[in-house]
Amino acid sequence: MLEANLTELESAARRRIEAAATPEELEAARVEVLGRKGALAGISKGMGRLAPEERARIGKLLNAAKQSLEAALEARQARFDSDALARRLDAEWIDLTLPAPGTRPGSLHPVTRIQEEIEDLFSSFGFVVLDGPEVETEYHNFDALNIPATHPARDAQDTFWLTDGNLLRTHTSPVQVRGMERLGPPLRMIAPGRVFRNEEIDASHEHTFYQIEGMMIDREVSVGHLIYFMKTMLSAVFHRDVTLRLRPGFFPFVEPGFELDIHCLICGGEGCPVCKQSGWVEQLGCGLVHPNVLRMSGIDPEEWNGFAFGLGLTRLAMMRYAIDDIRQLQGGDLRFLMQF
Ligand code: FA5
Repeated sequence: MLEANLTELESAARRRIEAAATPEELEAARVEVLGRKGALAGISKGMGRLAPEERARIGKLLNAAKQSLEAALEARQARFDSDALARRLDAEWIDLTLPAPGTRPGSLHPVTRIQEEIEDLFSSFGFVVLDGPEVETEYHNFDALNIPATHPARDAQDTFWLTDGNLLRTHTSPVQVRGMERLGPPLRMIAPGRVFRNEEIDASHEHTFYQIEGMMIDREVSVGHLIYFMKTMLSAVFHRDVTLRLRPGFFPFVEPGFELDIHCLICGGEGCPVCKQSGWVEQLGCGLVHPNVLRMSGIDPEEWNGFAFGLGLTRLAMMRYAIDDIRQLQGGDLRFLMQF
């Protein structure tokens, strides 16, 4: 009788386990079948009334039924686990055979590109490329360039002074001085670099921008040499003949001194914010090196002379790439920079 009950209970429990559709239902089935208040526990309790041999026999059957139901529960649970895993893998599926998304190649900043072109050009004329510190001494930035203490360029307005008396160089001209000190005459050098001015910022003025300095010292250097190099350089940068204009310009370190403008290539000379409606954009200052400057760096002006120029590299990049606001060049906006 008990035996038949047990068989009946076992198959009912197996059906119950098989019918569990969720892990929660399976847990409820496990409690019903194997729990202390479950059906098998009822049989267990009734066994005390059985004769010893009968008890042993039913006990064995009971254990076997328990083990087989535990195995059924485990198997059902394993199915839930593998279903869950399959669903996860489905959701997280990636195709490892797909080609990787392309890496975007970087590109040179427009200012760097022009700088390198000018370096190559002047190197081909036998000029050396020199570097100088961005934190300069007052002597190299001003005194050695014949800029007297009273010159307005020394005003706190224009110069970022450091507390130790040094300053952020306001132009690349101090590298001329370092070149003359280090290499002596004859000298052909250019010096690209970053310069700093305490200025109001607008479409054509930055507080931090790039210049290229150039200097040639030899025995018979003339304004003709200077114009030749400036025209060659600017035509190379713009890949065409550009219209130049030399105006007298005052720089204490050159005599005579000039400002060199080019016809505005953004508006074609008609007037725009970059050229301040004038049709011309100032590109560089230049002239023949002042005898005082040569003398201060230990070069005899009776024997040697030379030309020097200081070019606004950032402005040159604006002209070449028709960029109408200087702030875009250092804004760090990749959407802008990736066009080059
Ligand atoms: C100088 O800095 C002189 N050292 C140049 C020089 C060198 C003259 C050798 C003679 C001999 P200037 O202050 O004009 O000169 O600046 C030179 C160029 O830098 C300008 O022609 C202009 O193109 C550029 N520039 C000047 N100020 C700014 C600015 N705030 N933002 C961007 N470019 C500027």
